Amino acid sequence: MKEKILKLLKDSKNEFISGQEISQQLNVSRTAIWKYINALKEEGYEIESVSRKGYMLLSTPDILNYEEIRKYLETKHIGREIFYFDTLDSTNLKAKELAANEQKEGTVVIAEEQTNGRGRLGRSWSSPKKKGIWMSIILTPEIEPTDAAKVTQVAAAAVWKGINEVGVKTQIKWPNDIVLNGKKVCGVLTEMSGELNRLNYLVVGIGINANMSDEDFPEEIRGLATSLKIELNKEVERKELIGRILNNFEELYEELIHNNSIDKSIKICVENSALIGKDVRLILKGKEEEAKAIDISKEGELIIQDKNGDISKIISGEVSV
Ligand code: BTN
Repeated sequence: MKEKILKLLKDSKNEFISGQEISQQLNVSRTAIWKYINALKEEGYEIESVSRKGYMLLSTPDILNYEEIRKYLETKHIGREIFYFDTLDSTNLKAKELAANEQKEGTVVIAEEQTNGRGRLGRSWSSPKKKGIWMSIILTPEIEPTDAAKVTQVAAAAVWKGINEVGVKTQIKWPNDIVLNGKKVCGVLTEMSGELNRLNYLVVGIGINANMSDEDFPEEIRGLATSLKIELNKEVERKELIGRILNNFEELYEELIHNNSIDKSIKICVENSALIGKDVRLILKGKEEEAKAIDISKEGELIIQDKNGDISKIISGEVSV
């Protein structure tokens, strides 16, 4: 109901809408409306109330609920259900809990802040309030568990494209980091539930350092991480960026679902790779190796050439330049 009232307020742009009209359209009591209006005010919506005239929306806050993201969404199912939280331990944890309770494919969990944001390899992920995009997408594709890594390439490509559309040219560091001037601006954590030959669900967690200043990063990662704001010298509209990423994600993900191909995503990952053509250091099964990154395969593996000229493919691992 709160969302419906907000929509009416938005639809009557710069004009008052009376309590009576809201009450008639939505079939709710005037007292209930008043309560919902107060709840909206608490979320940061500036609403003027004048007796006998009604309510007028003066400004909307920078928050990431469905109502705010909706106008940027062009998707059929990705992001059409958004679970929005002011604070969460981790959006991936919440998404896994929802997925285990049959929450459907395409559902997105977003939090303004994570108190236990998780990164790859058991690391933590700093997620200060309203400074970034901390979200997870629930997916139930009918693919082999061994193909789950493909979805990570799709996510990396979708994020790259979304960020590019708001004017920032980044690079993709295989498998799924987005870097800007050599520093990390986004990470993807894909988690899976399934059996050996059956995938139950996937949760694709995306963390983007959008509007963080240097001091918002923990000291130990300041040299390694950056934000879009730091590099652009201005804030980015987080809700627009989420909309664009989800739109691109759906388009690229459909290629996987319908054609069992991730060619479009791989093309983006190759053309904007931070690694291809470079000498890289790999950590494989705890051992450090040097090699040259040559290409990314149709399956999403990194193709490397070692010092002896031997070519091989790696499906996961830590790579640095
Ligand atoms: C990495 O280590 O590069 C992956 C970082 C992934 C962070 C995101 S933020 C939203 C989602 N929830 C989490 O706890 N982690 C992911």
